[in-house]
Amino acid sequence: MSTKKVRVAIVGLGFGAEFIPIYKDHPNAEMVAICRRNEVELNRCGEKFGIFKRYTRFEDVLNDPDIDAVHINSPIPDHAPQSIAALKAGKHVACTVPAATSLAELKELCAAQRASGKVYMMMETVVYSREYLFVKELYDRGVLGKIQFLRGSHQQDMDGWPDYWPGLPPMWYATHCVSPCLAILSTPNQPAHADGVSCHGSGRIREELIKRYNSPFAVETATFSIRGHDVCAEVTRSLFDTARQYRESFDVMGSNVSFEWQQVEGEEPILHTRGLPEPQIPRRIRVPDYAGRLPEPIRKYTGAIHDATHLSFVQGGGHGGSHPHLAHNFLMAVLGLQPAFPDAPTSANWTAVGICAHESALKNGEKVKIPEF
Ligand SMILES: NC(=O)c1ccc[n+]([C@@H]2O[C@H](COP(=O)([O-])OP(=O)(O)OC[C@H]3O[C@@H](n4cnc5c(N)ncnc54)[C@H](O)[C@@H]3O)[C@@H](O)[C@H]2O)c1
Repeated sequence: MSTKKVRVAIVGLGFGAEFIPIYKDHPNAEMVAICRRNEVELNRCGEKFGIFKRYTRFEDVLNDPDIDAVHINSPIPDHAPQSIAALKAGKHVACTVPAATSLAELKELCAAQRASGKVYMMMETVVYSREYLFVKELYDRGVLGKIQFLRGSHQQDMDGWPDYWPGLPPMWYATHCVSPCLAILSTPNQPAHADGVSCHGSGRIREELIKRYNSPFAVETATFSIRGHDVCAEVTRSLFDTARQYRESFDVMGSNVSFEWQQVEGEEPILHTRGLPEPQIPRRIRVPDYAGRLPEPIRKYTGAIHDATHLSFVQGGGHGGSHPHLAHNFLMAVLGLQPAFPDAPTSANWTAVGICAHESALKNGEKVKIPEF
């Protein structure tokens, strides 16, 4: 294990603050600085976590030579401009989802990453959630057989969320349901990328919500093709005026075994095994925890509690226990010990599926080609 430490700054301290204790405890990180615009809130966060370098201006973070890497958690429209500026300033970049809101931004982001030679990683929580890691492990071990179909959904009611959310086209924030469909088919040397998407818009949100992004749809549902694979994936998204408990789901249909996400919170997912007598085909299963893949000091952040008889998960083990896995992968990539997953081209592809899907919905489902990055 390397003893080198990456000096990290976190930008945006809503969701972003959840990563502060993880970097503080990671043996290869030094949690050196935090940044948000509101000085009172900035100081409150700094006092709470004992972080003394505090910035209200993003530009000042980039000018600080004692910062190696920035982890960006600002509002969606800022993700690409801030990531590009940080790469150009010579910083490694981790950025929350989505990577950008236009294809032009994605191209510029990939170009900036290539030119800088620094790490860029989109911090997609789903592909480090314990459910995803479990299904990926089953697939890699051959248990599922051949993958025949993939399906993801992400439904959330965003009424009352900050300024940039109202009316956002659902597919502009689609990486949580797109990413597992592509990640599961990827190998370290061969990422699976989507190459074309067809999407339909359905229903209509309130008129006052439509104006901001000129996007009328309550639900957007898309199918996309994957370069080099005969598998089709289907994803569904809603953000406003649609009744549904929060759900990020991922189903995999395999030739031998299929995985199906639980309907509601608190249930367990189902494995369907082909060839068994009918009543035994579906079986609810307990998904294991993957904290053992992490350095010991940050294992506690997956939210799993182990005792002699059972394994349970506590609230706060954010997004399926993904947060410490994300921070760890990013740090290992910065140290050159493993590739960033997803790296810049893969982050761009996952994000572009949603951007092109919305374009397709506006063209009544016409298939849109996804550019290569
Ligand atoms: N599962 C996930 O991956 C997941 C979950 C939650 C949030 N997110 C993403 O995280 C981001 C932040 O979400 P949130 O709910 O914390 O939002 P928020 O609006 O509550 O917080 C945004 C933070 O960014 C700061 N900020 C805004 N503009 C800035 C600037 N120019 N320079 C520096 N700081 C700036 C704000 O002060 C605030 O601290 C969003 O893009 C959201 O999509 C991802």
